[in-house]
Amino acid sequence: SIVAGLGLYLVCHSSFATTVGFAQVGSESGWRTSFSESVKAEAKKRGIELKFSDAQQKQENQIKAVRSFIAQGVDAIIIAPVVETGWTPVLREAKRARIPVVIVDRNVQVQDESLFVTRIASDFVEEGRKAATWLMSQPQAQSKCNIIELQGTVGATAAIDRAKGFNAVLAQHPQAKIVRSQTAEFTRAKGKEVMESLLKAEQGGKGICALWAHNDEMALGAIQAIKEAGLKPGKDLLVVSVDAVPDYFKAMADGDANATVELNPHLGGPAFDVIEAYLKGKKDTEKLIRTTGDLFLQDTAAAEYEKRRLN
Ligand code: AHR
Repeated sequence: SIVAGLGLYLVCHSSFATTVGFAQVGSESGWRTSFSESVKAEAKKRGIELKFSDAQQKQENQIKAVRSFIAQGVDAIIIAPVVETGWTPVLREAKRARIPVVIVDRNVQVQDESLFVTRIASDFVEEGRKAATWLMSQPQAQSKCNIIELQGTVGATAAIDRAKGFNAVLAQHPQAKIVRSQTAEFTRAKGKEVMESLLKAEQGGKGICALWAHNDEMALGAIQAIKEAGLKPGKDLLVVSVDAVPDYFKAMADGDANATVELNPHLGGPAFDVIEAYLKGKKDTEKLIRTTGDLFLQDTAAAEYEKRRLN
């Protein structure tokens, strides 16, 4: 009968398609959007049903999303955490429901490492180190170098660790110091707004040697503010950040920015590789899978922009 046929159809389809819930941070940056697109495209390619949640940079929204994925009985969950703390209870709930969790990008601070399968992420400390090492190699930084820092989201690994790496290198260079530092939440709009106020607080930015931004998006907003203050970004103030998004390559090609450390956004493939292997029985995945990225400068920016802008 039609009813029996429909029943068989539902049984077959629900038992074969893998369903994965993805609790994403938000869409605060070009990098984040590329990362979301990578997960969506990869799910489609593999015939995985993806339940996507955009938390608008709020951890409480992410926790709600994870609880809803558990209630829906998904086969696996990907979490790209906003902040590091506060994850233990909901990860325990997922474990109790026998749903594997893969952490991507920023970290979670938990005592019990069995609460997630693995974390796929870049070394944010190293990114900060690379940014500072480049800056400290510049002629402008050899005598006094006062730096403005735009920090990422408070409590996010990408902000905590990039600051750590950058400051460790700076500690070897007594002529250089961060004179102003504030969060601009990884967004372009905040980057502009916060930079405007920090430049005002620093006599219009005349004595500033460089801007260090925890991501390209904030740097792009700040570049606007620097121009509006009558200074030349990339010349009067060196600009260094992290991500390597197409818009920033454009800014480097135009001479408005100087350097960026690449953060790989193509994380969908590795995340689903881990999940599919786990669901097939591989339970001993290492706890950290590292991605890497190079430092990019103005010399290759125009070519990189052409290569990347349509991706
Ligand atoms: O956690 C990674 C950071 O988050 C990226 O550098 C930034 O662009 C994003 O918002």
